[in-house]
Amino acid sequence: MRPSHASVALALVATLSGGRVPPRAPSATPTVVRRVVELTLTAAPARLELRAGTPSDVFAYNGQVPGPTLELREGDSVVVHFRNQLPEPSTIHWHGLHLPFAHDGSPFHPVPPGGRHDYVFTIKPGAAGTYWYHPHPHHRTGHQVAKGLYGAIVVRAPDDPLPASLRERVLLLSDNRFTADGEIDFPAKGTPAARVDAENGREGDVLFVSGAVLPTFAIRSGEVQRWRVINASAARVYRLELEGHTLLRIGTDGGLFERPVEAREVLLGVGERAELLVRATGEPGTRALLRALPYDRYIPQTRPVDWNVPRTLAALQYGPEPPVTLASSVALPTVLRRVPALDTTRVTARRTMVLTQHLINGRSMDPRRVDVSARRGATEIWEVENLVGMDHPFHLHGFQFQVLSRNGVPEPFPAWKDVVNVPRHESVRFVVRYDDYAGKWMFHCHILDHEDHGMMGVLEVRP
Ligand code: C2O
Ligand code: CU
Ligand code: CU
Repeated sequence: MRPSHASVALALVATLSGGRVPPRAPSATPTVVRRVVELTLTAAPARLELRAGTPSDVFAYNGQVPGPTLELREGDSVVVHFRNQLPEPSTIHWHGLHLPFAHDGSPFHPVPPGGRHDYVFTIKPGAAGTYWYHPHPHHRTGHQVAKGLYGAIVVRAPDDPLPASLRERVLLLSDNRFTADGEIDFPAKGTPAARVDAENGREGDVLFVSGAVLPTFAIRSGEVQRWRVINASAARVYRLELEGHTLLRIGTDGGLFERPVEAREVLLGVGERAELLVRATGEPGTRALLRALPYDRYIPQTRPVDWNVPRTLAALQYGPEPPVTLASSVALPTVLRRVPALDTTRVTARRTMVLTQHLINGRSMDPRRVDVSARRGATEIWEVENLVGMDHPFHLHGFQFQVLSRNGVPEPFPAWKDVVNVPRHESVRFVVRYDDYAGKWMFHCHILDHEDHGMMGVLEVRP
């Protein structure tokens, strides 16, 4: 489905990251005014200093790693002119966004080297949240993301309940590994290192926050900041802790929760997002570290030696100014938005997805096969059972779902998700409604090495 440009009263070319242009008043004929956001993303080889002073050969969107942050609003019509200047096929997948099949950037629609594709989609009402984009070609996703192709997407709602005065940060978490001569270390197929990555998923010892190593964020004592955290790593799970602070978790993959939840730490599986409020309770002039605490997601025999060492991601530096009082700096709403539970009495099918190493229900990905077939509008429950000794983050394209229970324990409240970590030997149940677009949608483990090894299936939603 292409949005008809005739129905768009106004065409604006908005820019990346900020530069949002307010719509002009509509003309005399009453018509829905929609913003058109049009941009070009070119994927091409580049030579960049991912680490200061050490250049590496990378793949970059518009010459930068990570790619530019896309600032969108609910209702926007989005046109992305993708130019593939890589020496291999690629796509851009809009992780978590609800959009027509032909524009999902899945392995079904590869763009050849030198080719181009216009991704055209509309941001649905209610979609406000934090998303990301990355390539999704068959067998090569892990390689292309490791080379630098990933970026953040922020979708805003016109009725966002939080004060616009809050300082906002996007923390795009990723890790990478480098050879002695400074190049990105992505082991060649068939090597012992490639076999270890195929098992565990590729982790790197260098951690990046929005492309920076150990950045320092400024904060003023008493201030409240809004953080959008994205786990864009291939395999790493982040157990986040901000030294000396209690975090207020306000949202997840598909946007805000109904109510904020206090948390000492936030577990972010691969592909997952968290929206947080950071309340600056520290003293002027002090520092607090944002750390990733040890999290054991591995098969014991394949654990990296340093898996149990906490890692520092960033530092929060308090300015010298006297504190502003929390109450005067911001009044936080108790209800962020309504998140109604999907109606499970309408469930027409229950599916079981059994995860073993590199397989779902004993099968490896075959793009010619349909693994699950359903009708548009149907509501289904999926039970994802992890039979093996390591975690697998399970992701579904096309539709946001609501987790019902984890290992039999009911989820405390409904929230919109598109990826859920399924810990070793545990299971997760979720409910999903195929509320719109027909098409072929991937479901897969989001450990990129597992996905590239075929731990993926196809859901066909028929019109
Ligand atoms: Cu984030 Cu199928 O991907
Ligand atoms: Cu996706
Ligand atoms: Cu996996």
